[in-house]
Amino acid sequence: MKFNIEIKNIKNKKYSCIILPIFEYKKLSPITEKFNKISNGYIEKILQKDSIEGKIGQTLLLYHVNNIISEKILLIGCGKKENTNSYQYKNIIKNTILELNKTGFKKSMFLITKIKIYNKNFYWKVRHTIENINESIYTFNKFKTNIKTEKQITKQVIFQAKNKQEQIYGEKAIQHGTIISNGIKITKDLGNLPPNICNTKYLLNQSYKLINKFKDNKKIKLKIINKKEMKTLGMNSYLSVSTGSLNKPYMILIKYYGKIDNTSTPIVLIGKGVTFDTGGLCIKNSQHMNEMKYDMCGAATILGLMNIIIKLNLPLNIIGILATCENSVDGKSYKPSDIITTLSGKTVEILNTDAEGRLILCDVLTYVEKFNPKFVIDIATLTGSCIIALGHHYTGLISNNKFLTYELKKASKQTGDKIWQLPLGKEFEKQLVSNFADIKNIGGYAGGTITAGYFLSYFTKKYKWAHLDIAGTAFNKEQGATGKPIQMLSQFLLNISSQKTKK
Ligand code: BES
Ligand code: MN
Ligand code: ZN
Repeated sequence: MKFNIEIKNIKNKKYSCIILPIFEYKKLSPITEKFNKISNGYIEKILQKDSIEGKIGQTLLLYHVNNIISEKILLIGCGKKENTNSYQYKNIIKNTILELNKTGFKKSMFLITKIKIYNKNFYWKVRHTIENINESIYTFNKFKTNIKTEKQITKQVIFQAKNKQEQIYGEKAIQHGTIISNGIKITKDLGNLPPNICNTKYLLNQSYKLINKFKDNKKIKLKIINKKEMKTLGMNSYLSVSTGSLNKPYMILIKYYGKIDNTSTPIVLIGKGVTFDTGGLCIKNSQHMNEMKYDMCGAATILGLMNIIIKLNLPLNIIGILATCENSVDGKSYKPSDIITTLSGKTVEILNTDAEGRLILCDVLTYVEKFNPKFVIDIATLTGSCIIALGHHYTGLISNNKFLTYELKKASKQTGDKIWQLPLGKEFEKQLVSNFADIKNIGGYAGGTITAGYFLSYFTKKYKWAHLDIAGTAFNKEQGATGKPIQMLSQFLLNISSQKTKK
């Protein structure tokens, strides 16, 4: 789908459809009032006759409105006048696109950006329109042999800017919105792929593909740490998880140097990439296992994000890491009660082979110390408890640093991609005490997300760190992979790189 900005004066231009906002109790917005006047009150007259009230997402399609050369006008309900919030905005966009796609308009003029949303400007409205449209039209039909042609969809959406200044912001918003949407699609596709296709090798190949796509870009480098190198390094914890699988583990580092001055230290982003989590010998029951193809959504987030980072050409140095492996069952599998020495030297007693994410991540967290990172963020479908604690709407956040916490929450508020902080309280230390090793890999039923985070925090003492538990948000039964929390993280990085992009 194409997006464009035009500067005002559209009266005499022809579109397939003009989308106009109305408010509750059949009130017209100022822009709709203008069209109403041109039509000699026709829009209002029809509105009075119809049952549509103007509630969020209600639509009414009008054909051949008096004095309007565009063929159709779509009225879309935006709720209470001048009181729309960003969450409602999303629903408005969703319903609009649903309605448009019933007919398949070629060229639509979107005037919904004219409504007021508290604290949000034109840039935000345009960008979020694009991101929401792309979310609404996403399908994953790779394995449906009976779907021949995609539904006819809207081809082009046009926004209207008041002046040159708005046009510049609008164009930036289109660029950002398109790039972020593409990244989200990459992440969703990877998440939705079945585990017999999307295995560790596949993620490795996708990383090579990314590098090849930008092969003229000297800012990007790829480094692979394979099984043998992990052994040499002493990443025994990471390795132990993968011993029961035929799929070999790869730690994939995508390095992006967007800042020429190479004294600047990198931001490190780490994604859990368990391409299938059977639970290992502490095997999951089948009800809980069938969703475990999504256990690589953290790594998929990194691939999507790196795409975004490269295309936005962010002036930052960023290392994205895909920590891939498979947790499977075999005679070689690691066992509950095994004791391993992690890369850090700390010993861990494994009491549950299904708490494998933290065992992979802990070695990666130690490995990245050598980069002297500005800060480190790990993204992982780490605990089922996170779904119990926060449901499917909020990503869990645990951090050892106030600045990072503040910035992540800020980006979350700006985008509506929600996160919620959980404590990293010393009180939880006891739950990880082991009888035989330094710590154990599970902390019991109480506060499962927190004890998992606490476990990780033992390996992040040397830098600022935040952990995002996406077990509840990265996928769900209705949508499959969601691409969360890419919107939040892209915004976070845009903010950090202090590119001036107001909300
Ligand atoms: N990948 C799972 C967590 C998970 C569960 C993600 C459901 C998404 C949906 C993780 O590896 C796991 O199995 N965690 C265990 C930890 C427990 C054994 C301490 C869990 O949550 O049950
Ligand atoms: Mn597990
Ligand atoms: Zn897992």
